[in-house]
Amino acid sequence: MKILAFVGTNADFSYNRLLLRFMKKHFKQMADIEIYEVGKLPPFSVDTPLSEQTEVWKLKQKVKEADGLVFSTPEYDHGIPAVLKSAIEWLSYKTKVLSEKPAMIVGVAYGRQASARSQVQMRQILISPDCNTNLIPGNEVLIGNVRNTFAKDGRLVDQEAIDNLEKCFEHFIEYIQIFQDVDKGEHNMAVKQPTISDAYIQFPTGRLSLKEVQQIFSTIPFEIDLIDSTNHFAWFSDKPNREHVRNTASLGETVQECHPPMAVPAVMSIINSFREGKKDVVTRPLWMNGHRSLIQYYALRDINGHYLGTIEFTGSVEYILNLFENGAWSKDATTGASKNTNDSAPEEEEPAVDASTGASESSDDSDDEENPPVAADERPAEETDATTGASETGSVDAEDNTADASTGASETDD
Ligand SMILES: Cc1cc2nc3c(=O)[nH]c(=O)nc-3n(C[C@H](O)[C@H](O)[C@H](O)COP(=O)(O)O)c2cc1C
Repeated sequence: MKILAFVGTNADFSYNRLLLRFMKKHFKQMADIEIYEVGKLPPFSVDTPLSEQTEVWKLKQKVKEADGLVFSTPEYDHGIPAVLKSAIEWLSYKTKVLSEKPAMIVGVAYGRQASARSQVQMRQILISPDCNTNLIPGNEVLIGNVRNTFAKDGRLVDQEAIDNLEKCFEHFIEYIQIFQDVDKGEHNMAVKQPTISDAYIQFPTGRLSLKEVQQIFSTIPFEIDLIDSTNHFAWFSDKPNREHVRNTASLGETVQECHPPMAVPAVMSIINSFREGKKDVVTRPLWMNGHRSLIQYYALRDINGHYLGTIEFTGSVEYILNLFENGAWSKDATTGASKNTNDSAPEEEEPAVDASTGASESSDDSDDEENPPVAADERPAEETDATTGASETGSVDAEDNTADASTGASETDD
């Protein structure tokens, strides 16, 4: 269980920070609590340029990954400190990351009121439509009179306060579990089973059931992501062991929301070049997760050429390159068989027969002059992922604007 806990102040010394440190240690068997300092964020402004929002972007990713949020708030002038409010504004303005997140409020103040008034305000803020967090009614952790509740070394020592904190945190964890169970039920129905049974999509070239469509995307050795025509992250294929790990929480986000700010200009440049019809494909050979991979971005167009979105096609090419490097395509002149089938392939190599038609295939030995291999240009790799923005370790950045836009493949005919 991952909990993101906000220290609601930028003060160097803070009892609210001590409380969260205590919780992190005390509840380590129940949850992995990461403490976040809101003082790291720039002050909220609707005018702050995107390029200065890297810290905000990182925080949004942390919020997305967290199962629950804890806000520890001091009390300043009967309300929450401005830095905490500013952090919440970053997390609610033009984004839905807080929406439906289970949240818990705790607070320490010096006086007897023990942050009661700031917690009431915090509750009000967190249920506003743009925050829309899920809060348990009651479940209050109000710690005042700090001289008696905290020891000199910063430990919470007041047993009554500890008992109440344990009770409230246990409720909070149960509350999160209930949400997760409900989500899991819906998730299973949506992901494991097609939603309409026995439905078929009739393509001009044959029909596929929804189940087949889904399983094809999970089976092919490449993963696909889609940014739709309105620049929102719309879909990703549910392939096991993806190179880019995607999160359904990012679905529906804009290009700006789902990318690190520094990557946005490069991503938008690819998308705009597709939208304007200047390019149809951008290709990137990269080292990813320790192996050679190929990323290809394609402009998705309807049959009239209207832009429908950008798809990112990613996969390891290690297997193909191993086949090539082991001579899979160099033919024996007398028999036409491959000279070397001793490759590191995960599967046994099949004879060159078209499985669907049964016809033998043959390939041309001669160099393919019409479709030379894609040349890597000399620009440094842009470490961006055009559909969702995960960073990648770039090696070479190649672009191929001549490839067939519908298949992207170079083909040779006998
Ligand atoms: C600007 C300011 C305003 C404060 N206003 C209140 C207040 O309205 N009520 C209160 O009980 N304590 C108030 N305090 C004292 C707080 O109890 C105390 O600073 C804070 O809640 C302790 O949290 P911290 O140690 O995490 O900063 C105020 C402190 C500051 C610096």
